[in-house]
Amino acid sequence: AVFTNNLPEGEATTIHWHGLRIANDMDGVPAVQSPVQPGETFTYEFVVPDSGSYWYHPHVRTNVQLERGLYGAIVIHEEIDYALDKDRYFVIDDVRVDDDGDFAAVENLQGPDGVHGRHGNMLLINGEAEPLSDTVRPSGVERWRIVNTANARTMWVTVKGADWRVIAVDGPLLPQPYTADYLRVPVGRRFDLEVIAHGDADEVSLEIMLPGESAWNYYPMFVGSVEGEAGAGEQIDWKAPAIPPVTGVEQTTELELNVNSDTALEWTINGDTYAEADDIRVQHNVPGEVLITNLSAFEHPFHLHGQFFQVVERNGEPAEQPGWHDTVLVEGQDTLKLLTNWDNPGRWMAHCHILEHAELGMMREIVVE
Ligand code: C2O
Ligand code: CU
Repeated sequence: AVFTNNLPEGEATTIHWHGLRIANDMDGVPAVQSPVQPGETFTYEFVVPDSGSYWYHPHVRTNVQLERGLYGAIVIHEEIDYALDKDRYFVIDDVRVDDDGDFAAVENLQGPDGVHGRHGNMLLINGEAEPLSDTVRPSGVERWRIVNTANARTMWVTVKGADWRVIAVDGPLLPQPYTADYLRVPVGRRFDLEVIAHGDADEVSLEIMLPGESAWNYYPMFVGSVEGEAGAGEQIDWKAPAIPPVTGVEQTTELELNVNSDTALEWTINGDTYAEADDIRVQHNVPGEVLITNLSAFEHPFHLHGQFFQVVERNGEPAEQPGWHDTVLVEGQDTLKLLTNWDNPGRWMAHCHILEHAELGMMREIVVE
């Protein structure tokens, strides 16, 4: 990928490939490359190791640059050519606009935006404020890839007019698809759905609900009118790669998430902000557990660069479907246990994906050495 920065004077940037387990020097963060200055070009060169749905965004002034639209989806296809009627992606975002319809100024992070992250007042899908529309075949079999690129807000998502199940979360296909009534999609995470339109439905829709609103409003952001020749109507036999459990754990990394407002608002990991903290060091190719304790009452969608992990425990109970992930929602007061093989060496960021929390300190460098 040949990247040229055409942003105005003073706006250096990078491109980070969220979720791709590529070589460290191509990860697109200031810890491994000098930000690309306006007018400069940088060539990102890497081999993509995993199929699935990913995305990209800058890693410099991320809360501002990402809010203003610097992001996109990445689809890495499996080698198998599944018989789908359609493979779609839906990038969902909420942006804050002012009365003139411009991006509202970024507020001082010492205010409410620093506490909750910046919530928008306009929903976008694939960059558009108007819901997308298309046709969908009756009993057609589709794959929908959803990524939440908002600065902060966890979106609740459901599908109407179809049978649907989750076939991947973040990484490659899950060994066992599962069904749900709705999904909580934290920022950064991706959900891939198999969607089979009801043969007798008029419409199939992707609907978003926003927690925090006074009522449960459903916003249809994609509406497919059901027409045309009937599709196969059958679930696909997805050939997921085996997910070996992480065994022989020999190292432990503890991350305590907290907030500190003694003098100024700060979000901390193990008591320190990113600027104050030392690196965390782990051994390459030595399986490890990562214990996350959220001492704050706020949720933190936590993201680890460069590695996949499995979420094995939440508050002492077995957690989640087996699968490889790179982002996980840590709820207020949660404790989580993740397992990872630490198989990708280098200097990797670990941070809350509420971009205002990351800006205010909830970020670390983990060196896999
Ligand atoms: Cu999606 Cu550190 O990033
Ligand atoms: Cu956070």
